[in-house]
Amino acid sequence: MRNEARFPGPGFAWVDAQVVPSLLTSGRTARDYQSFHKRRRHVLLAFTFGVARHEALQGGCLFYPCAGDDWSPFIEFFGDHVDEFHFCDIGRPYQDLSSLKSKSPFADSSSYRLVTTEIDGEPKAWIQQHTVGRPYRELEPGRLKQVYERVSDGRRLTVIRRRGFGQCALGEFPNRSIGVFVHRGDTEAEGGSNVCFLANKKRRYEPLSRLFDKVSQKLVDRALIISGGVLVDRRLKRKLREQQFVFGTFEWMRVGSIGGRGRRTPIWEVVRLSAS
Ligand SMILES: C[S@@+](CC[C@H](N)C(=O)[O-])C[C@H]1O[C@@H](n2cnc3c(N)ncnc32)[C@H](O)[C@@H]1O
Repeated sequence: MRNEARFPGPGFAWVDAQVVPSLLTSGRTARDYQSFHKRRRHVLLAFTFGVARHEALQGGCLFYPCAGDDWSPFIEFFGDHVDEFHFCDIGRPYQDLSSLKSKSPFADSSSYRLVTTEIDGEPKAWIQQHTVGRPYRELEPGRLKQVYERVSDGRRLTVIRRRGFGQCALGEFPNRSIGVFVHRGDTEAEGGSNVCFLANKKRRYEPLSRLFDKVSQKLVDRALIISGGVLVDRRLKRKLREQQFVFGTFEWMRVGSIGGRGRRTPIWEVVRLSAS
């Protein structure tokens, strides 16, 4: 399925009516209000005409923990503007990187040519279940790094599929290096990670604790977060019903949605508040 950007369409006038009073009553000035609208129009135009839908982006890579094989919608959508895509998972396909290398991350593999393939770490590693002496699972990390060239114009993309726990992979990114953070389709139920990347839960196992703060540090100052609103902070979940709000150290604004596999997931532009 093709992934096109979709923007608040018919509901937008309603959104205006809701947003204006909330901006005016929250101590903001008319200038803030104008700049919000200028930005919103800018992003809206950019996405609508597909001219520069990266306008909301300020560099950085894409990181999608617990990705499974949900690769192609993101590479297609951001392929013109993001150079490096990092997908991470502990599941079976990632445990054998030598087999994974023949699985194309594109919906249409004929539009890209594989240039190089590298494997870092052991090609195969299996997940070790909890034991009496070790109350957590273990999986030796590994990375399949492939560079592709787009047939139509020679543009190169790097696609990294990292074997291992998303919370550990997150720690490997330098601060302010992630331009697009994706977490969707995941759950607390069997088969899901139950890892709350967009909440500051305190857990005994440090890599699982305060993940929203850690994600925030890794994001560039103007980034995109793509989240279906599951495994997020309870207050954030409520705010995600609004068009624009402040949460954590960012101002959030809904700028569109992304599809794939018959589902749509909202895209949020997040801008770091200047004092943070
Ligand atoms: C419900 S699936 C969702 C897959 C994908 N996001 C999608 O929407 O198609 C959850 C995925 O998380 C992976 N997973 C579970 N715990 C994980 C962890 N701590 N780090 C990375 N991946 C994890 C599982 O292997 C599984 O592929």
